[in-house]
Amino acid sequence: MGILNEAFLNLRTIKLRRFLGSLFYPLQRDWLERQLRKSQTLEAVEETGEIQRAEATKRGGQFHFKHIELEIYFLSADLVRIEWKPGIYPISYGISRKDWPQIETTFQEMEECWTISSPQLKVIVGVDGSLKFQNLSGQTLREELPPQRPTKLSRQTQDETWLHQAKLRPQEHIYGLGERAAPLNLRTSGDKNKARTYRMWNYDAGGIYGPGTDPLYLCIPLYLGLHEEGSYLIFYENSFPASFSFQELATAEFEGGALRYYFTAGTLPQLLERYTELTGRPPLPPRWAFGYHQSRWGYDKESALREAVKGFETHDIPVSAMHLDIDVLDNFRAFTIDPDRFPHISELAEELVTKGIRLITIINPGVRASRKNRLFEEGRAQDVFCKLPNGKPAIAPVWAGLCAFPDFTNPQARHWWSRQYEYLLDLGITGFWHDMNEPGVFVLWGDPSLPPHSTWHSLEGRGGDHREAHNFYGLLQAEAGYEALSEYQPERRPFIVSRSGWAGLQRYAWTWTGDIETSWEGLRQTIPTVLNLGLSGIPYSGSDIGGFKGNPSAELYLRWFQISCFMAFCRTHSANNTKLRTPWSFGEPTLSIVRQFLQLRYRLMPYFYTLAWEASQTGHPLVRPLFWADTDNPQLWSIDDAFLLGDALLVAAIAQEGATSRAIALPKGHWYNFWNDALLEGGKQVNLKAPLEQIPLLVKAGSILPMEEDNQLILHIYPSAFLTSEGQVYSDAGDGYGKSRLDSFYLTQNQDCLELTWKQQGDYAFPYAGIKLHLHGFEPQQVWVDSNEVVNQGQCLSVEQFEQVRWQGVFTNYEHRS
Ligand code: NOJ
Repeated sequence: MGILNEAFLNLRTIKLRRFLGSLFYPLQRDWLERQLRKSQTLEAVEETGEIQRAEATKRGGQFHFKHIELEIYFLSADLVRIEWKPGIYPISYGISRKDWPQIETTFQEMEECWTISSPQLKVIVGVDGSLKFQNLSGQTLREELPPQRPTKLSRQTQDETWLHQAKLRPQEHIYGLGERAAPLNLRTSGDKNKARTYRMWNYDAGGIYGPGTDPLYLCIPLYLGLHEEGSYLIFYENSFPASFSFQELATAEFEGGALRYYFTAGTLPQLLERYTELTGRPPLPPRWAFGYHQSRWGYDKESALREAVKGFETHDIPVSAMHLDIDVLDNFRAFTIDPDRFPHISELAEELVTKGIRLITIINPGVRASRKNRLFEEGRAQDVFCKLPNGKPAIAPVWAGLCAFPDFTNPQARHWWSRQYEYLLDLGITGFWHDMNEPGVFVLWGDPSLPPHSTWHSLEGRGGDHREAHNFYGLLQAEAGYEALSEYQPERRPFIVSRSGWAGLQRYAWTWTGDIETSWEGLRQTIPTVLNLGLSGIPYSGSDIGGFKGNPSAELYLRWFQISCFMAFCRTHSANNTKLRTPWSFGEPTLSIVRQFLQLRYRLMPYFYTLAWEASQTGHPLVRPLFWADTDNPQLWSIDDAFLLGDALLVAAIAQEGATSRAIALPKGHWYNFWNDALLEGGKQVNLKAPLEQIPLLVKAGSILPMEEDNQLILHIYPSAFLTSEGQVYSDAGDGYGKSRLDSFYLTQNQDCLELTWKQQGDYAFPYAGIKLHLHGFEPQQVWVDSNEVVNQGQCLSVEQFEQVRWQGVFTNYEHRS
């Protein structure tokens, strides 16, 4: 490429136009908002008022207070919907399941209250409008104060707000709320011991954020409470801006809408099952998605991408996907490819597929508002953009310049948008990265999105402003994208990564933790952020390895890489002004260690994939807090620098510069050190070594950990002293919707014997050439396969199909067995 040509390409990124836009737009936004919000005239606080009538209904009860109505409606024995009116009803974008089987409830009038019970839960309604939730053993899980409605009247609008509070127990821990740059326990106080406030307003952190920044891109008004009497989950089906805080009281304050929420109680796994039954389960992703992804804002021409791909070959590092950022776009416009920088993208995509690498490209929702832009003209003709009060499209600056924004709350807009993916799919692009979809816009001050009161949305034809529609934006864009991919390529499973979203995003997309700063604190933050996303129903996430903005040291990059290898989404990504960041950028020993960790991740593929299948059936996140394995131990309730991957693996981060060991409190049971098979007793604090080439990695005793190598399935068997245990391996073609199989393995131990039984289910042929059974903590002396004695091959036995394998030998770790 000639110098002139290059200079011309660089000129395109000159920021003057965007600078002016980000100066003028907030002036216009503030002016528009002032028109609607002038002169607040009255403030009043309305309480429920006296109870006037109460009646039983088919699935619950109805209560008429002087000012407020309450409906209690059981969807199932352990899931109840509470609705306080008045207020605008939500449109059910978050909800997936709408029909629930019949259920019996009993309604009883007592002296000062009413009780409504299902076979599993009891709701007690006080005459003052307070609510109590009990399980059937009579344990109170949650106590709510009567809700209040502070009302602010302005000239044109009436802001109906809701203040909803519940008592928290001294020890109660709170989790969830979607994506948060906060500790795992959201009740942990912030700076100066003040309670943190969590805002519900999807927010573009503007290129960098660190611990404490709030809100972020993906807010979900859901939280889990955990205390001595049990655990419960609350999901507010209200998309309006809101603030949450947790001190003695849990407080949720919504700026509009009816106060509708769902309550469920049970164990943590049960809570996630119920919640994802309500809001949708995450479909099984394509298997390649669990490989390594390499990305960079700055692969600005084909040669840059090719060079990176070549590096993976040269350095023998596995990679499954390459991501192209806005550099691939023609003048940053959505659904385009820059013909000068990427003239042969389809050949490139094809070439990559032969190497087992998928190409992912970015899509921003802003549509450049220009007569010369076909997409804009088309959108205008179809009337699918978000509008201002004058009926014209709301325009704001983002990468492509002044842009209009598709109104994804309009079904026609979703359909129109979904038609646009075909062009890129035809070019061979496999998956899409939805960015800037809060929607984020450029501003020099104030909120970086559309004007909340003066942007108008269709909301399925019923109409409403941006305050209600904002938090739905990324979710509905993902819905449109998912439908497009399913329709155009019905034989493939869609792959979308979305920065923003809301309850239910798991039905369509993965996410990542956005523009986290490059620092040790940033690395540490990613763990609770990912854990709370998982507890909010979003099982597929990860962070930019090494942080988005800044240049990590080799050590920071490596430590970040090591934990990311055990998260669902494993991707290096960085900002355009950072140094090149690939596994080989830091030389040795980083390169060799990263290679080993990635090889381990690829060997763990059957485990990741089986967990993904489990998530599709149950909604359980892949990455879980330590207390998932031992809820009764309050010492685990706040641990957020370690996590579980499934039931079998415990991963502890090294998030401190120079550290080569660390302490960690273990959940109950026994745990094997993955690196040397040493057995550790759970329920205690242990100190573990972590030289640069390791992080603490433990395997729960009793696990059957499936791995693969050279087309062999390797079952790593970690016996526990007295337990029988079970492990599963899910397999299918890795994409599409064809046949599948589930191999279940049952392990029993007694005295000096180990026995493994294999049960096969499903119609997909066993995909491995053979199977190896690798014993840990056990020295076999004699071996039988299906009752025939075979040669003792030591700790690793190669077999073909079998029904039962029996070993007699010595447990090398457990000394006192009964
Ligand atoms: C913001 C995203 O969070 C980041 O990942 C991306 O590189 C930039 N936008 C540029 O597209």
